[in-house]
Amino acid sequence: MSEIKKKKTILSGMRPTGKLHLGHFVGALENWIKLQNEYQNYHLIADYHVLTTNLDSSMIYQDSIDMLIDWLAAGLDPEKSPMFRQSQIKEHTELHLIFSMLATVARLERNPTVKDQARDLHIENMTYGHLGYPVLQTADILLYKGDAVPVGEDQVPHIEISREIARRFNNQYGQTFPEPEPMLTQFSRLSGLDGNAKMSKSLGNSILLSDDRETVKARLRKAVTDPLKLRKNDPGRPEVCLVFSYHKKFNVEEINEIENGCRSGELGCVDCKLKCSSKISDFLDPIIERRKYFEANLDTVKDILKTGEEIGRNKARETMIEVREKMQIG
Ligand code: TRP
Repeated sequence: MSEIKKKKTILSGMRPTGKLHLGHFVGALENWIKLQNEYQNYHLIADYHVLTTNLDSSMIYQDSIDMLIDWLAAGLDPEKSPMFRQSQIKEHTELHLIFSMLATVARLERNPTVKDQARDLHIENMTYGHLGYPVLQTADILLYKGDAVPVGEDQVPHIEISREIARRFNNQYGQTFPEPEPMLTQFSRLSGLDGNAKMSKSLGNSILLSDDRETVKARLRKAVTDPLKLRKNDPGRPEVCLVFSYHKKFNVEEINEIENGCRSGELGCVDCKLKCSSKISDFLDPIIERRKYFEANLDTVKDILKTGEEIGRNKARETMIEVREKMQIG
């Protein structure tokens, strides 16, 4: 037996929606980067999942590359964490088919995350594929025998379904898969600039990881603050202020000063926002710098993807051989 304790495996993924925003960083990416030494990480670009809510596939490739560049620029290390597209590893679709026999329609219809998504997007007649969103996600996780999945809270119901499918497979065909655990991020959500609980590109309330200083400044200028602090010297309530929540994340050193200044009325919202945007940009500057490098070296990005896809495919093939053996198929 090897002396080294085997690292646990993490499988995490995102749907490619193009350039990422601060909410993606705080809710997921930051955690992935932190965990890449402790765990064996695999990172999935869920490009088939995009089709569940948007059939226009013309941007999927470009959006995938843009997302990958942000992952790399933010600090994911391809040497430690292979990154790959779901569509390039056929085993995802194969295991998805098998798993679809192990999930009942009634169970999938009870999934609150898919229900909320259908409501938000005004989807009245859900497709078979959309209903099966968590079944495909289960194949994503279990092909790599993921022990843990770092996700935001909205994804927990999906992971619960993954655990059930793993259990069902193991009971039917013999112990094969781990029951993956959700790993919640501490600071799991960053509110949008309009005060909406979720930062999202489609709501137009986000700051992108690739936004330059001027853009961040302009975006922050429009951010909502304490509605009772109307004039510069009115005392404010940091606990209800969105900008204060950003300071808590990006300007920890000055947090007491900001809080006291706001409460006493000495610090006005305009200055407070300027301080905040400058701190956010200090944080983003190195990411933007690295993004420029990758944009200028697209071949490197494509090589990283190619290597990641080879590593992913090997692991996925190994799992499928075991699945077929256990099922006595072929
Ligand atoms: N459902 C995830 C999201 O919307 C994306 C995803 C697809 C995923 N497959 C996954 C996340 C596997 C974790 C593990 O963000």
